[in-house]
Amino acid sequence: MDDGYIQFNVKKVRVVTTALHNSEERKVMRVRGTYGNGFPLEKMEGRNVVIVGGGFAFTTLRSLTKFILHEANRDRFKDLTVIYGARNPGELIYKYDLEAWGKRNDINLNVTIDRAVPGWTGLVGFVPALVKEVAPTSDNAIAIICGPPIMIRFTMPIINELGFSPKDVFLSLEMRMKCGIGKCGRCNIGNKFVCKDGPVFAYKELEMMPKEY
Ligand code: FES
Repeated sequence: MDDGYIQFNVKKVRVVTTALHNSEERKVMRVRGTYGNGFPLEKMEGRNVVIVGGGFAFTTLRSLTKFILHEANRDRFKDLTVIYGARNPGELIYKYDLEAWGKRNDINLNVTIDRAVPGWTGLVGFVPALVKEVAPTSDNAIAIICGPPIMIRFTMPIINELGFSPKDVFLSLEMRMKCGIGKCGRCNIGNKFVCKDGPVFAYKELEMMPKEY
């Protein structure tokens, strides 16, 4: 949700997303939703916020970052650290936001790509390594993480090492979804439905669920 409109980020992969990319301006589409929960904004207020994301998962984290940076909200949160990685510069999304945020002094922005490519002058390396290097404080802090399973698997031990309590770490999960309303069983982890009970779960809650994410 942006000021006055909703923006979608669609990666062209197969039939549906290709059709979306090929559709003409002003084509009318029906959208169902919204479903599930959101980020725990009340828990984040008055605290340092660390946002970690990889790949196209950054779409939701970008919305959260924009919300925190909005002039109406910025005072409600303390230090903001954003760590974001993509495979290559071409896969970094919302570059205009990254550029604008890079000029602000109220956000610690760290953007990396997996491997060096000609012309890239920024950081190189995987997200977990960058989290370790940036080492954001866990003091009065809350961490929000969203990305591919492999990124989450390697980032969580570092988040633990940094001293974040499982109740202060929230993961927004990416699962394949179909119905979006807890009926088809496509997205469940144990007895939880990512579409309905999530997609945002406290790590404390996930620790008690099967490691299927
Ligand atoms: S998408 Fe159908 S149960 Fe979650």
